Amino acid sequence: MQNIFEKIDNSESINQAIKKSDKNQSIIIKGWIHRKRSSGKKIFIILRDATGTIQCVADKNNLIEKEWNELDSAFIESSAVVTGIIKKDVRAPTGFELTVTSFNILSNNENQFPITEYQSTEFLLDVRHLWLRSQKMINIMKARSYIFKYAREFLDKNNFFEITPPLITQAGGETGANLFELNYFNQKAYLTESSQLYAEAMIFALERVYSFAPSYRAEKSRTTKHLAEYWHLEPEIAYFNNKQNMELQENLVSYIIQEFVKNNEDLLIFFNLDKNYLLNIKPPFKRISYEQAIENLNNKGADKKWGDDLGVEDEKLLTDDEQKPIFVYNWPKEIKAFYMPINPDDPRTVLCSDLQAPKGFGEIIGGSERIWNANELIERMKEKNLDLNKYSWYIDLRKYGSVPHAGFGMGIERVIKWILNLDHIRDAIPFPRLINRVTP
Ligand code: 4AD
Ligand code: MG
Repeated sequence: MQNIFEKIDNSESINQAIKKSDKNQSIIIKGWIHRKRSSGKKIFIILRDATGTIQCVADKNNLIEKEWNELDSAFIESSAVVTGIIKKDVRAPTGFELTVTSFNILSNNENQFPITEYQSTEFLLDVRHLWLRSQKMINIMKARSYIFKYAREFLDKNNFFEITPPLITQAGGETGANLFELNYFNQKAYLTESSQLYAEAMIFALERVYSFAPSYRAEKSRTTKHLAEYWHLEPEIAYFNNKQNMELQENLVSYIIQEFVKNNEDLLIFFNLDKNYLLNIKPPFKRISYEQAIENLNNKGADKKWGDDLGVEDEKLLTDDEQKPIFVYNWPKEIKAFYMPINPDDPRTVLCSDLQAPKGFGEIIGGSERIWNANELIERMKEKNLDLNKYSWYIDLRKYGSVPHAGFGMGIERVIKWILNLDHIRDAIPFPRLINRVTP
């Protein structure tokens, strides 16, 4: 008899094993007990691993007593190694069934698994470390991993270098109003709200860079699209203007979606996604000015004045009948960040754009050209009451070989929520950090 470690070494994934269903040969699989029911002398389990699930049926007469007892006492989500023969079986949930010849528990749970069928959302968030094993979360996490991969792949194909910024900083990258403060060896420092300023420093070395890192926002927002910690993809490009910036954004978004649809038929089915809607997400995306956006909103019954920022409800109204994302460009300078250059054609506005996902999903990207003249930058920073000392290194960049440049930031959980049509952004990240939640 093989010992359990030998069995693990000789085992294969459920996906691979299923491919041998016509070979009538003994195979070993391992995983977690996803479901279990028994009818006297027979026990049915659904075994789950990272690749899939399969129904296994054990007959008391065909197992040695010790193994039968192990199986009989096994709780849901215990880990096990199962030996047997796989055959096609239309009655089994995934179309295949394994007849068990040997069963070894790896670790039986101390207690019944705490998650049963009907649980409140709050409870499921409390036991997130265990809920991540649910089919829904498994599939979201697979999709997330692929979306990360396609984003990196696109940037790699477009000759970008991936850089790694510091996450602890004294120079807030945006408004500075939503920074998490920390005690850094008796100095004040913050968790970064954007890696943009550091990405800017690196274009003078590498020209086309991106960072893909967490950003932190101490926003007191209880919406379905705000996280306190989110993953932020931030490309920054030397010699780029706002027009080129928008083109890069639409190509990136479209690449991610086209690759996702092309390679993940199973996930499209699981999430019940509209393939044609997704396949249609191709450049060019519609571009409207901020001014036009305000006009459109008012035509749809809103009451917005020039200068107002757009809230969640405005974003919904603006895009609810759109099929593709739309850019809203050139916003009033008062409601945008200090580093955005004045629009020479309308000095009330700055050269920037937000990308709004369709059907009311809201902003997924914010981007702009960057001021590249030191005096202009200092002037804007004073207007915004920023402490110039904290940004001296950033101003320096404009004093030594400055070049025009632009970049943008994409909130990857917003993109995941949109593509997978999730109700809430907290499900797009394994361990969400929300205003009322920092554990598990
Ligand atoms: O529009 P934001 O604040 O822009 C910046 O941070 C720029 N420095 C980016 C750059 O140009 N490099 O944030 C960019 C994106 C938003 O469009 C949104 O997708 C996401 O980050 N985001 C959030 N995602 C989840 N939770 C939050 N609280 C978010 N705040 C912003
Ligand atoms: Mg923004």
